[in-house]
Amino acid sequence: MYIEEVCVTNLRSFKKKKISFKEGINILYGPNGSGKTTFLEAISLLSLGRSFKTNKATDYISREESFYNISGKTNNNTKVEIKGQKNKKAVFVNSEIIKKISDHIYFLPTIINTPDETVLEGKNNFNRNKNINKNIILIEPKMLKTIKDFSTILKQRNSSIKQREDFFIWNPQLIETSKKIWDQKNIYEQKINNEIIKITQKHNINKETKIKIKGITENKKDIESLLYKSKEKDIFKNTTTVGPHKDKIEYLLNGDEIKNKASQGERSVFFSILKKAESMLINKDSKKEPIVLLDDILSKLDNNNTSLVLDIFKNNKQTIITHTEKINFPNVNQIKIDE
Ligand SMILES: Nc1ncnc2c1ncn2[C@@H]1O[C@H](COP(=O)(O)OP(=O)(O)O)[C@@H](O)[C@H]1O
Ligand SMILES: [Mg+2]
Repeated sequence: MYIEEVCVTNLRSFKKKKISFKEGINILYGPNGSGKTTFLEAISLLSLGRSFKTNKATDYISREESFYNISGKTNNNTKVEIKGQKNKKAVFVNSEIIKKISDHIYFLPTIINTPDETVLEGKNNFNRNKNINKNIILIEPKMLKTIKDFSTILKQRNSSIKQREDFFIWNPQLIETSKKIWDQKNIYEQKINNEIIKITQKHNINKETKIKIKGITENKKDIESLLYKSKEKDIFKNTTTVGPHKDKIEYLLNGDEIKNKASQGERSVFFSILKKAESMLINKDSKKEPIVLLDDILSKLDNNNTSLVLDIFKNNKQTIITHTEKINFPNVNQIKIDE
């Protein structure tokens, strides 16, 4: 499935704007501030029911307006719509309301290189962990409940810590859900790295590209002892300092974290490979091919790497790449945004 048409009302700088997309690679181009990222945000709102940039609707509702509306039409003539105001929103598929937005993510899966994930995250890899959780849920739907349970328990435990209550009563449930998440993360890490190897081999890329999830603890006794050891630290920091939410996710190019050594162009190639691997894995395990959204991935690339990235996504059902200029490559659908 791919998206043929997206129409937004009162979204950031747009009062009303409609863009048509095609199957295959789409280059959405236009000057800075013309609303390219806003359109990717619109598609990810249709897909996930939330923005990849912010959790506050007031950020993306056009200034001075009180509501927004996004609608998309897929190639099989399904209409997806999100209607929202400052504090509420509703998702519709063919005009029928979706009762649980979290169940909706299987309908129109998307992959995106979010700025927060790409830009060098600090010590807490919040966005990288969030991205991996989203992919794990797409691959293994039963994990939706586990991940939700984990975050509820974590919130309750953190609130107990703050109120100086006995927060260890939450440990058994925290250990149970942490173990399930870590088991899945372990599998995910292996699978994603396998897909990456396939891509680098196919395209003769001779730089070792991989991700590493640091912190995975699969044995319940070990998790328990981690929680014991960090008791004082948890009280001192007023929060739970160990668990899958604290995993460190490293993006490695030839053994070094990309933030330390890779050039900007190398990072863009790295993210192209990673996003392609994510789309292959989700396609394989969930039988649904995600739409790939690549924000500004070509801007630091020379001609060879531009053609490499286009080649990597050549056979995907649909890829939407934002860029400031039209590009000089065949077989891509070029869309000028301010037309
Ligand atoms: N809530 C808002 N209301 C009105 N305009 C907004 C709002 N949020 C962002 N903008 C404006 O919309 C534009 C966003 O463009 P963006 O999609 O990031 O452009 P591009 O990706 O093409 O560079 C910017 O000019 C920004 O100032
Ligand atoms: Mg942009």
